[in-house]
Amino acid sequence: MQVKIIDHPLIQHKLSLVRDVKTGTKEFRELLEEISTLMAFELTRNLPLEETQVETPLTTCTCKMLSGKKIAIVPILRAGLGMVNGIVKLIPAAKVGHIGVYRDHETLKPVEYFCKLPTDVAERELIVVDPMLATGGSAVAAIEMLKAKGAKQIKLMCLVAAPEGVAVMNAHHPDVEVYVAAVDSHLNERGYIVPGLGDAGDRIFGTK
Ligand code: URA
Repeated sequence: MQVKIIDHPLIQHKLSLVRDVKTGTKEFRELLEEISTLMAFELTRNLPLEETQVETPLTTCTCKMLSGKKIAIVPILRAGLGMVNGIVKLIPAAKVGHIGVYRDHETLKPVEYFCKLPTDVAERELIVVDPMLATGGSAVAAIEMLKAKGAKQIKLMCLVAAPEGVAVMNAHHPDVEVYVAAVDSHLNERGYIVPGLGDAGDRIFGTK
């Protein structure tokens, strides 16, 4: 299965705080941003480096710097927005695209309602972000849309996944690596991840 659980102690500690029903909007936002930064650290582990000459106060030495691989972050609206700033802190030159999909109540099929991407999407590595990988419907649809627009290298970064969502992602997009902080027990009858953290969008934006 193409899922990598990032179980760093700092991430697990912050995730427990995020799950807590007593955690308010301000703290929830801050924690989600911090976890996103820590997860992005792991996601970018294999970024290519190139050698360069650096003059230190003492001598000249051969050092390594990022070779300038182009990255774009693509939050799935709206909850994915809560993860963007945490990644941009680490990769300030990243472009940010946006994609919005909703589920049609009658057909139950995902419908794209917004998509704005960098023009050179085919040359960029995309980090698609959404805190909750529940049924997998939105992520699968969003990634299908990104591929249709030329995207070739895609990673998906979520906070919490349900096993059902991971399986659906893997079945539809086996080429996409999925990074999560936890895979929870199951989905309930209303499509919520259990134990989960509730509705991520509502908790980020303070809505109900
Ligand atoms: N979306 C959420 O925000 N929470 C869930 O538990 C499932 C989907």
